Amino acid sequence: MKRIAVVTSGGDAPGMNAAIRAVVRTGISRGWEVFGVRHGYAGLIAGDITRLGARDVGGILHVGGTLLGTARCPEFKDEEIRREALARFEEKGIEGLIVIGGNGSQQGSYALSHMGFPVAGIASTIDNDLYGSDITIGVDTALNIALEAIDRLKVTASSHKRAFLVELMGRDCGYLAMMAGIAGGAEVIVIPEVDTNPEVVAESLRGAYDRGKAHALAVVAEGAAYNAEALARYFTEHQARLGFDLRVTTLGHVQRGGTPGVFDRLLATRLGAAAVDRLARGQHGALLGLRQGEIVATPLEEVVTCKKTLDLSLMDLGRVLAQ
Ligand code: ADP
Ligand code: F6P
Repeated sequence: MKRIAVVTSGGDAPGMNAAIRAVVRTGISRGWEVFGVRHGYAGLIAGDITRLGARDVGGILHVGGTLLGTARCPEFKDEEIRREALARFEEKGIEGLIVIGGNGSQQGSYALSHMGFPVAGIASTIDNDLYGSDITIGVDTALNIALEAIDRLKVTASSHKRAFLVELMGRDCGYLAMMAGIAGGAEVIVIPEVDTNPEVVAESLRGAYDRGKAHALAVVAEGAAYNAEALARYFTEHQARLGFDLRVTTLGHVQRGGTPGVFDRLLATRLGAAAVDRLARGQHGALLGLRQGEIVATPLEEVVTCKKTLDLSLMDLGRVLAQ
């Protein structure tokens, strides 16, 4: 009988539980034993590893976050520490690992795979900044949460004829802000991938009133040089000259804690099953993701060396539609 383990790492994402459930149940259906590693790579180092049965992953499909817990664990970058972690697996006879996580987590997967341990990655992060998957687990749910907030802000903004700025998550990537900005009808979108001048943001907001709009909305990614904090400071300093003030909402972790929607549950379920299948076929060292509607395996080496790019033509579309 084969023994494998599953770990969730980095930022949690709605749908991670569906992926855990798929890994556990498809693994068991092959006659394997499946173990859960608690609290990301930190739990792996500490040997916090328990066997999971089919019933242990019941009732979690609709729950956000991760049943296993997750962590940021900088020590895992150290090869000696990773060697200790692999010793924990050896003690338990575990021969393969499935890593559910984003960019950093898959760097960890690649490092383990490079050391000869059989690994399969599952693309999961709300940031959607992971090469090898057009969309990652959690993005769709996070976007819907952001959109609900934007829709509500527009209602109160219209009532008061106010300008609002909403900051969405995205450490290095503007995907969430760009997509939510377009879907929510923002007047201006600010993302790390495009240099922004705060005067242009002010001009876009003022222009909305000049064109007869009752509201003016800026959607900003947290990773942008001019994020909510920087823009709010600029607008306060220049308020007299700019002629209007700005209400600021930072959505933060609210975006990560939602109930996974159907897209994320199905994506996570398919990726979980595909990861088990890869390990069963002895094809290690790849990330399972969704590309052009298909579940596809991309070598982890490619995943960690290539950068996913944003389709910046969508920023132009957002500008046109904001007229
Ligand atoms: P995410 O996976 O959501 O992008 P992080 O970037 O915080 O989240 O990465 C999650 C964890 O992955 C880190 O805390 C660390 O344990 C591990 N990790 C990140 N980079 C590396 C690396 N270069 N080598 C080994 N492990 C890494
Ligand atoms: O998981 C990605 C992310 O949500 C980023 O968008 C954000 O910058 C970061 O995680 C926040 O990390 P933490 O939960 O550790 O505060």
